Amino acid sequence: MKFLAKLAFAAAALAAGSVSAQTYPAKPVTMIVPFAAGGPTDVIARIVGEHMSRTLGQQIVIENVAGAGGTTGTTRAAQAANDGYTIMMGHMGTHGAAPALYPNLRYDPTKDFEPIGLAAGTPILIVAKKAFPANDLKSFTDHVKANADKLNLAHAGVGSVSHSTGILLGSMIGAKPTMVPYTGTGPALNDLVSGQVDFMTDQIVNVAEQIRAGTIRAYAIATPTRSPALPDVPTTTEAGLPQYQVSAWNAMFAPKGTSADAVAKLNDALRKALADEATRKRLLDLGAVLPSADEQTPAWLGAFVAKEVERWNPVLKAAR
Ligand code: MLT
Repeated sequence: MKFLAKLAFAAAALAAGSVSAQTYPAKPVTMIVPFAAGGPTDVIARIVGEHMSRTLGQQIVIENVAGAGGTTGTTRAAQAANDGYTIMMGHMGTHGAAPALYPNLRYDPTKDFEPIGLAAGTPILIVAKKAFPANDLKSFTDHVKANADKLNLAHAGVGSVSHSTGILLGSMIGAKPTMVPYTGTGPALNDLVSGQVDFMTDQIVNVAEQIRAGTIRAYAIATPTRSPALPDVPTTTEAGLPQYQVSAWNAMFAPKGTSADAVAKLNDALRKALADEATRKRLLDLGAVLPSADEQTPAWLGAFVAKEVERWNPVLKAAR
């Protein structure tokens, strides 16, 4: 009798296991965005998350957990239950630059996450308030060098993309402006438009619309070629600062130990979002660079993150 009871129990457990694998996700999935609403990380998360919800048949619910350059929310994600119901949108700051700037970082980007997939490349632009007294990049850098102690550079916290690319620019032109932190470059952009802060280095998806509207100035884009979304903005090479070449990226992660089944379903939903014409158009209109098929695998992202951490470490240690 005992043998039969054990057999029945094993069969039930097997069925339950396969049922949970079949029904994932059985409830909404929380996606932590480690910056304030309205910024580039949030915008990309909401655009791809909207389409992913349709594929998964469950809502992707965005939770903004800001602070400490994105490391607060990223730590929260690293320590979340690895049941597939908490994921995050990270980026070149949280999963690339942060280890160089936080000696006691409470997560390791290369060990504490299951990579899901790359969502978008995001070229960096040098932008300033409308009233900034410079008509091109050369006069901008001259003015910043001569007046650094009177100028404010807005960013999203130590280790964020805007902070890392801002100190990189400062070190290249020999200037140390006052660094003004925000909970994200969404709020920072509001103060740039109103002239409360002087300039910023930020991701194209955040600033493209304001540049087109003429409410802020764009001096250059830090990529080898111009963006189709902003064809009139010169590259840093054209504008005389060829050494300033930097592009960020946004990617999705789950806590370490999240099941292969859940990761595969999340990656499949992300791929389908990036293949959807309407979703692609929204991202491309904002200047995002969409990953190729082979850049969308979890394995590719894992290897990429390891290279990014290695790349940013010496750069930022030298720039501080
Ligand atoms: C960053 O600077 O890391 C991001 O632009 C912050 C954000 O997404 O708000």
